[in-house]
Amino acid sequence: MLVTALLLLVTLCALGGHAEKTGDAERPGHVSVVVLGATGDLAKKYLWQGFFQLYVEQVRSGRSFSFYGGGQRTADVATPILFEALKTVSCPKEVSQERCAVLKDQFLRVSQYRQLKTLENYQDLAQHIEQTLKKDNVTEAGRLFYLSVPAFTYADIADKINNSCRPSGGAWFRVVLEKPFGHSLLSAEELASRLGSSLKEEEMYRIDHYLGKQVIAKILPFRMENKEFLDPIWNKHHIERVEVVVKETLDVKGRMSFYDEYGVIRDVIQNHLTEVMMLLTMRPPSNMSNSEEVVQNKLQVLSSLLPLGRNQAVIGQYQEYSSQVQLELNKTKDRRSLTPTFAAVLLRLDDAQYEGVPVLLLSGKMLDERVGYARVLFKNDMFCLQNDNSVHCKPKQIVFYFGHGSLQYPAVLVSKTLFKPVLVDGEWKEVTEHSNVKVFGSPLSDFYVQTPKEQREAYSELISRIYAGEKNSFISVENLLASWSVWTPLLSSLYTEFPRIYPGGEDNVDLLDVQLKGNDIKFKSEVVIIRPDQMGGTSGGGYQAIHGKFCDTDMVSAWTEQLVEKLAADLQEAAEAAVLESGVFHLALSGGSSPLALFHRLAFHHFSFPWRYTHVWMVDERCVSPTQVESNFYLLHNHLLQHVKIPYFNIHPMPVELNRRLCVEEDGGAQMYQELITQLVNGSSFHFVLLGVGYDGHVASLFRGTEVEKHGEQLVALTESPTKPHQRMSLTFTAINHARRVALLVIGKQKHELVTQLSRLKNDKDRYPVTRVSPSPGKSVWYMDYDALLG
Ligand SMILES: *[C@@H]1O[C@H](CO)[C@@H](O)[C@H](O)[C@H]1NC(C)=O
Ligand SMILES: *[C@@H]1O[C@H](CO)[C@@H](O)[C@H](O)[C@H]1NC(C)=O
Ligand SMILES: *[C@@H]1O[C@H](CO)[C@@H](O)[C@H](O)[C@H]1NC(C)=O
Ligand SMILES: *[C@@H]1O[C@H](CO)[C@@H](O)[C@H](O)[C@H]1NC(C)=O
Ligand SMILES: *[C@@H]1O[C@H](CO)[C@@H](O)[C@H](O)[C@H]1NC(C)=O
Repeated sequence: MLVTALLLLVTLCALGGHAEKTGDAERPGHVSVVVLGATGDLAKKYLWQGFFQLYVEQVRSGRSFSFYGGGQRTADVATPILFEALKTVSCPKEVSQERCAVLKDQFLRVSQYRQLKTLENYQDLAQHIEQTLKKDNVTEAGRLFYLSVPAFTYADIADKINNSCRPSGGAWFRVVLEKPFGHSLLSAEELASRLGSSLKEEEMYRIDHYLGKQVIAKILPFRMENKEFLDPIWNKHHIERVEVVVKETLDVKGRMSFYDEYGVIRDVIQNHLTEVMMLLTMRPPSNMSNSEEVVQNKLQVLSSLLPLGRNQAVIGQYQEYSSQVQLELNKTKDRRSLTPTFAAVLLRLDDAQYEGVPVLLLSGKMLDERVGYARVLFKNDMFCLQNDNSVHCKPKQIVFYFGHGSLQYPAVLVSKTLFKPVLVDGEWKEVTEHSNVKVFGSPLSDFYVQTPKEQREAYSELISRIYAGEKNSFISVENLLASWSVWTPLLSSLYTEFPRIYPGGEDNVDLLDVQLKGNDIKFKSEVVIIRPDQMGGTSGGGYQAIHGKFCDTDMVSAWTEQLVEKLAADLQEAAEAAVLESGVFHLALSGGSSPLALFHRLAFHHFSFPWRYTHVWMVDERCVSPTQVESNFYLLHNHLLQHVKIPYFNIHPMPVELNRRLCVEEDGGAQMYQELITQLVNGSSFHFVLLGVGYDGHVASLFRGTEVEKHGEQLVALTESPTKPHQRMSLTFTAINHARRVALLVIGKQKHELVTQLSRLKNDKDRYPVTRVSPSPGKSVWYMDYDALLG
């Protein structure tokens, strides 16, 4: 018996490539497994099979088990349903038929249904577990709760479990959770904090079943095993592009009440595809079993992603979707859902290794085929004059093929033009017999192909990892929140975007083909995209910028994107004129969210901008350390300065932190900034000042109630904001009105109320700080998008 147990331990290690030495498998004892949602689809299809497999593997080592199916319904109703599901489990291939029948019979005998609704139900369960342990005279090894139930019930269940079902006496305690883990950064944080009050982080196993797919679990080991070949080429100099793609042929009928709230980005891209992307681009850990290192290296990838804006994603929706939503959710015909069922997103990493390498994540419903893969395509610098078929002219790529598609089985494919991958893992074998299939247009014989000897279901794989306590196959809370902070801004910016409608299946033809242009992604084919504003028939005026007057001042107005393009173009024109005239361009930029799109436009489209001759000044700054995200300079640096070639000594952050303290009058930060302006800027007259306008009409950090008269001829002053952080440093109206040109940027529907108020102002000119902007002899111009102007 002992020998078997040791052998088992060894197999378990090989299985995961590693194992935490918890000693679980050595010490016999009893394990109780509780599956909530025991008769649901997921449980019926995968979970019970996974637990049965675990049972078969572990029971040999003297471990004993009880399985509890839990649910809302009473036992007399649900017991027969549970047992129908339990009877469908199957044995691994190596188990003989007779042995299998015995094992299934035993499995059924240690399983039972329990209603788990009230706290008393959970207390009864706990008592039952204790009694079983006593009756069988066994020590307890661990308790596992699997929550296969809607996410809104997690917090309540976790609370009940914590209150009544924790084991005593050193047994392990694990709670497994299924996505969705929130809907946005905020909701994910809320859920995390509620769960955190009942469960410890090390007790929670958040499942992303993609991490249980054999090929995906192989990515990191593959990279490490082939380090010698990959090290020289796994970087921006050799990688042309990275693609992570999951195409589905099904629609979402039957799941509408969930799906319509989530859409493809939340459903698969934020989690599954992002996880795969991280495995491809993270620094491999020095020790695979060090979960902490794996988490940290993944976090590093997320934090190096450049922010995602509307130009980094395209979305689509299959044609039948809206009518399916109406039908299933009992909505009227005029209910038009904007939920995307297709999305392609272009990621870029701000990282020395991958800088400039496009990373494409793409997924959709109702596409032409069912397939999933991650592909690393390498640059090819060969030119073949006569024979395209010369080996060295063929594409160089590594493909992690999840399954389905033309190949039908999971595999790792390496172009023969690259290298022959090593095969160290006993679980994998090389495929040498090639059928006629083609992968990405190349015959299979162009690749070295490796495939698992035995295909295992992702859930079975993960269940055995939960049992082994291998946390690094699961999603840590840090990772989860970091991923949401990457995706939430994009989701918000797409919130009102109208998806491209596609017919579905083969008929999509090239409608969803995408083109990567610099940092942007676009649909390739130019079709007229219907936007909500065009549906009402008021499309006149369309996409171009219009010029007019607002409050007696020049105004440019357009849809946001065109407006930003126009402002960027005007800025460059002003810069070139100033450089021509005096060899230098003095630009003062404000913080806040309005200018971010402009910064991106400048950084990624205006490559001929004369940054070398530009001095960048701050309009205002929050009194926080410049390394904090609230800092305007931090924002400016991240979104603009780090992407352009500007000399360091031309960058002038406001000195808010002096003598290790923030914005203290005696430290004289404002005077220092003023002196610097006086020294460097001719006549203290900036060439261009960009101002955002707040909801309350404030500009720079000059708020209603700021006693601007007190500033006199000062150029820089300390001010107080009504919102946090309260302390600010700001250019004064004297400085602003000295400028040659001032742009007032007003973007978004939320500003419409203010715009309306401003347009009605007559005598009460001093009511809003923005109305004090009147440069002389310079001029100011409003840049206002249609949302702000028209509401
Ligand atoms: C329970 O098991 C322990 C050792 O595992 C043994 O010493 C003890 O006698 C057993 N008790 C009963 C009631 O069987
Ligand atoms: C679990 O419940 C106990 C009280 O029964 C409480 O003290 C504890 O904070 C809860 N949470 C965790 C994570 O243990
Ligand atoms: C790898 O990490 C595990 C867990 O942190 C540790 O027990 C083991 O000693 C490490 N192995 C090596 C080779 O460093
Ligand atoms: C659908 O909506 C109609 C009108 O609002 C209502 O009368 C009907 O009961 C609803 N049906 C379902 C299944 O919800
Ligand atoms: C400074 O500005 C004044 C007035 O606009 C101008 O006459 C002068 O040439 C400028 N000096 C330089 C060095 O650009």
